[in-house]
Amino acid sequence: MDCHIKITPGIVQDYLSSTMANSIEGAHCADCHGNSHKTMEDYNLVDMPTAETCGECHEERLAEYRKGKHDLAWFAMKTQPAWHKIPDALSKEGYRGCSGCHKIGRKGYQGVLEGNMGALTHDKGLEEEQYHYGNAQCDACHTRHKFSRAEAKDPRACSNCHMGFDHPQWEMFTSSKHGIIWGIEDEDNNGRAPTCQKCHMNRGRHDVGTSWGFLGLRIPTKENVLAIIDAYGAVKESAPYELLAFNHMSVPELVDNLKNLADKLPSGNFDGVDDNPLWVLHRAKYLIAAGVLSGKDLQPTPVFTAAVVQGKFARGPDEFNELRMQMKRTCNQCHAKDYVQSHFDASDKVIRAADAVYAKAFDAVFTLYRHGKLEKPKNWTIGPNILEYYWARSSVEQELYLIFLEHRQRAFQGAFHASNDYAHWYGWAPLNTAVNEILEGSMQLCEDHAQCKADIQLIMDGYTDIVQNKKY
Ligand code: HEC
Ligand code: HEC
Ligand code: HEC
Ligand code: HEC
Ligand code: HEC
Ligand code: HEC
Ligand code: HEC
Repeated sequence: MDCHIKITPGIVQDYLSSTMANSIEGAHCADCHGNSHKTMEDYNLVDMPTAETCGECHEERLAEYRKGKHDLAWFAMKTQPAWHKIPDALSKEGYRGCSGCHKIGRKGYQGVLEGNMGALTHDKGLEEEQYHYGNAQCDACHTRHKFSRAEAKDPRACSNCHMGFDHPQWEMFTSSKHGIIWGIEDEDNNGRAPTCQKCHMNRGRHDVGTSWGFLGLRIPTKENVLAIIDAYGAVKESAPYELLAFNHMSVPELVDNLKNLADKLPSGNFDGVDDNPLWVLHRAKYLIAAGVLSGKDLQPTPVFTAAVVQGKFARGPDEFNELRMQMKRTCNQCHAKDYVQSHFDASDKVIRAADAVYAKAFDAVFTLYRHGKLEKPKNWTIGPNILEYYWARSSVEQELYLIFLEHRQRAFQGAFHASNDYAHWYGWAPLNTAVNEILEGSMQLCEDHAQCKADIQLIMDGYTDIVQNKKY
């Protein structure tokens, strides 16, 4: 401290204002940074703390944390093919892009990329060693060196990450009545209106996670898949434009693949969420375009293992229902049961409606690939490939990516967070604009190909039918 009060006075002052500095059993510089560094010359001997360091004294919080989604943030980021092509300054040690937010996750989890097809394992510190800074995780909300509880309880503590393009929860919260009351009354977690923490870290629990997650996805159940066979399995002509994505195969031709898929899925029921087979088919389309299900035989791919199983991008029925129940219990502290139920019903239906129109955009782009109007770049495994993000080569695929990460996200996240402008004008509205642009652009690309034109026309008619007759 004698030394650092001169060279980094801010750090020492922050530390001295912390509970830990002022508690008898609290932590001192050496508890977190080790005893080896004592002079100006030997600073390279210093230990930089990890969450394990905090866990030496806060065992319970660490254990909770390891169960929640924040812990998986670094791993989740690395499952994205795009991440591997971004300049290191934006993706890795520069901490100026993906990694700047995702360092809230633990480094060193090993999954499919490391050849591990089972449950995640941990490399015991190897990856952390490659990064001198940014391994502490807990400092995402309790910033150094004050490590304050009050700071972490303020919703602004979440806002550097939960904002912007694909997850504007901060903007949605502050434009909802909840956020507005919080802003006016400037109250803490016990206020009249809930904060992020009240809804997502109730009673200080450190294992965050929601039912639908970031992408508004669920793991389809055995029953979901078998219901497709029941509904369409006997229909020879099949529901025509629904199936363009599946290489024009009709459900009867897909029965064996669907049965195989059903065998691999959990059984159960998503409480209160309508799961008609059409919705399941719609969701399957972007699972194919994200490489999660194989377009050839509808079976789960290694991306499924990495993202869904190891990275927990989507939840099965048990976990979904449990998280939903916990969330409703929080709402019920201030609202009537029925009021809360109607809010969730409406928000779930926003996802279903978004998927119904989004599916049309996929049908169109799949059709362009099928008729050779778009060509799969050599290094892509599939086309369209929404995980290629902004590297997609055509304007229709750029739109498809924007729907995937921006418009659809805002529509349903805005609904859940009771932000009307986000749900409609920043979500649903640009989503439909983008679908229309994709359909128009696809028609132009098909100009000289009669079958392609006819297929796109069919999809356009389907879209019109949905919109005119509210078949969401
Ligand atoms: C409760 C644990 C804890 C204590 C106590 C602690 N630190 Fe830190 N320190 C951290 C964490 C966490 C980081 C950030 C590590 C990272 O980026 O990976 C850090 C980073 C630093 C850094 C480098 C980052 C920067 O902003 O320049 C310095 C220097 C530092 N600490 C000095 C001190 C000094 C001096 C003390 C005692 C007055 C002290 N620390 C006490 C946890 C602690
Ligand atoms: C050597 C033990 C030790 C270590 C290591 C340690 N803490 Fe603490 N921490 C304490 C003690 C003791 C308290 C005070 C408990 C009390 O008074 O209720 C405390 C309090 C806290 C609080 C509550 C502060 C408040 O405003 O009330 C937070 C948050 C916290 N620690 C976070 C961390 C983080 C993050 C790390 C790792 C960077 C860490 N601690 C490492 C012992 C430790
Ligand atoms: C340093 C950046 C950062 C901060 C600060 C941060 N988060 Fe997160 N949060 C993330 C990332 C990254 C993920 C995605 C992790 C994943 O899915 O693997 C995430 C995921 C979540 C999830 C899970 C969503 C799902 O998929 O179900 C919730 C809930 C959440 N955060 C709430 C909060 C709250 C509340 C705060 C503030 C108290 C907060 N976060 C602070 C980066 C952050
Ligand atoms: C501004 C901070 C920020 C940046 C920059 C950022 N992310 Fe995220 N990311 C988050 C947050 C916060 C979440 C969780 C959002 C939610 O659940 O709604 C998240 C979620 C994710 C998820 C979803 C995990 C899941 O469980 O569904 C992946 C994958 C991901 N990010 C990858 C990336 C990649 C790759 C980049 C860079 C190309 C990136 N992120 C840039 C903050 C960020
Ligand atoms: C996403 C933000 C966030 C992250 C990351 C986070 N915390 Fe917290 N932490 C909170 C919030 C919010 C509270 C206040 C809970 C309350 O009082 O209701 C809190 C409270 C605490 C407290 C004091 C109260 C108590 O329950 O003992 C400790 C200690 C603590 N956290 C330790 C940790 C440790 C250790 C880590 C890393 C494993 C961590 N926190 C990571 C948000 C966070
Ligand atoms: C009134 C309670 C409430 C408040 C306040 C709240 N959320 Fe949420 N949040 C929800 C609900 C409900 C969901 C959807 C849960 C589900 O999937 O069933 C959700 C979902 C999320 C998700 C997953 C993706 C999404 O947006 O659907 C993240 C991440 C998240 N919230 C973060 C935050 C952050 C950060 C804040 C504060 C800026 C915040 N939330 C404020 C209730 C709340
Ligand atoms: C701590 C108390 C509290 C909790 C918890 C809470 N709310 Fe609220 N909520 C309020 C208050 C206060 C208002 C403002 C009432 C009004 O509009 O007159 C409000 C308003 C609303 C509104 C109306 C928004 C509008 O624009 O008119 C909705 C919808 C809502 N809450 C849903 C929820 C849901 C869903 C949850 C749980 C995920 C929840 N609330 C949790 C206190 C709470």
